[in-house]
Amino acid sequence: MMIDKIYCADVKPDMEGQRVKLAGWVYRKREVGGKVFIVLRDSSGIIQTIFKKDSGDAYKLAKKVGIESSVIIEGTVKADPRAPTGAEIQGEKLEVVQDVEFFPITKDASPEFLLDVRHLHLHSPKVAAVMKVKATMMQAAREWLLQDGWYEVFPPILVTGAVEGGSTLFKLKYFDRDAYLSQSAQLYLEAAIFGLEKVWSLTPSFRAEKSRTRRHLTEYWHLELEGAWMDLWDILKVEEELISYMVQRTLELRQKEIETFRKDLTTLKNTEPPFPRVSYDEAIDILQSKGVQIEWGEDMGADEERVLTEEFDRPFFVYGYPKHIKAFYMKEDPEDPRKALAADLLAPEGYGEIIGGSQREDDYDKLVQRIIEEGMDPKNYEWYLDLRKYGSVPHSGFGLGLERLVAWVMKLDHVRWATLFPRTPSRLYP
Ligand code: 4AD
Repeated sequence: MMIDKIYCADVKPDMEGQRVKLAGWVYRKREVGGKVFIVLRDSSGIIQTIFKKDSGDAYKLAKKVGIESSVIIEGTVKADPRAPTGAEIQGEKLEVVQDVEFFPITKDASPEFLLDVRHLHLHSPKVAAVMKVKATMMQAAREWLLQDGWYEVFPPILVTGAVEGGSTLFKLKYFDRDAYLSQSAQLYLEAAIFGLEKVWSLTPSFRAEKSRTRRHLTEYWHLELEGAWMDLWDILKVEEELISYMVQRTLELRQKEIETFRKDLTTLKNTEPPFPRVSYDEAIDILQSKGVQIEWGEDMGADEERVLTEEFDRPFFVYGYPKHIKAFYMKEDPEDPRKALAADLLAPEGYGEIIGGSQREDDYDKLVQRIIEEGMDPKNYEWYLDLRKYGSVPHSGFGLGLERLVAWVMKLDHVRWATLFPRTPSRLYP
């Protein structure tokens, strides 16, 4: 490291009398009784530093330095039971690395303004808490995937066709041809199971979705799994075990960060498998009994899902959707050809769908028929159809929207807060 510093969170009361060097940003500042109190922030947390008149130059600099200026502070540790970490720093030296006269973000900034200056909003410890939780959730996912024998693969993002319907494809010029940004790695993961059986990937997925809801981004991080020799019920077990591990592990490692937004941890603790399994038919009955205008065969949107989540204090599956409202690749239910072997995982507290998954149609003719029914050209899916001709096996998989999971875990009011630089129809900058 460039400088020999320690982190704010590592300053402990038992270090009383030790001289330390810290580096970070001026989080808060006030002057009382001839002393300057600077709360220093770094990636680990905050600590109070105090500059008295007798610190000479340091005191003068402390008086002048602006909020969010970058600074290096040297001083002596003082135990103080009133301090949040039980300790504070008696400041002796202050180096202003870059002084900030006026930081544009103030307390009453509107959400829209915060997004306009997202590059500066990232100074906020609250934003850092969300990013830490997101990173920890993926760390947990990797731990689980590794111990359960899944191979990570790296599928392409530049693709030639739709997975989730043509209307939300982002089109671009690829030399003299048209190409698209991937909506889902699924079709490529399906190809990869023939050599690896259990595969996963984390990729950005793109949806040219104009819908301005609190759960849609045009670019999001998609965790997808695909497993050979697995039926719908097998893959649901994988989903609940993975989600359970991700949530429990993150609670273990990041409870403090979670609690910056979420006060009640009950639903997160309620993630021991098995999750409730509700059929689409039952879901429609529940909705109708609660006065929602919905008929069998209609898709559930965010509003319907929100009403349904009122019935549960934990994540739950809805399975057995009508085939015609679901994607072409989902396997037809042999016991009821009107339905697909598909299930979504819904998060409680109004959040709704966080995972979409299904058993895949492994019958060549049925798959061709579904592609045609969806108004697509089987010619564009030749390689994908080949997978049903050369050693086809029953298989299933799912996709999890990482921002949606983080939004629920941290109780955020919009998925955009779960992303570093959100992309929505109206936001491509910064
Ligand atoms: O339900 P979706 O569209 O399913 C697929 O893409 C499958 N091909 C995945 C698979 O089986 N491999 O998307 C899966 C998940 C959703 O449940 C949701 O969490 C998230 O991706 N998602 C979005 N997240 C943010 N913004 C959007 N516009 C999203 N669209 C889907």
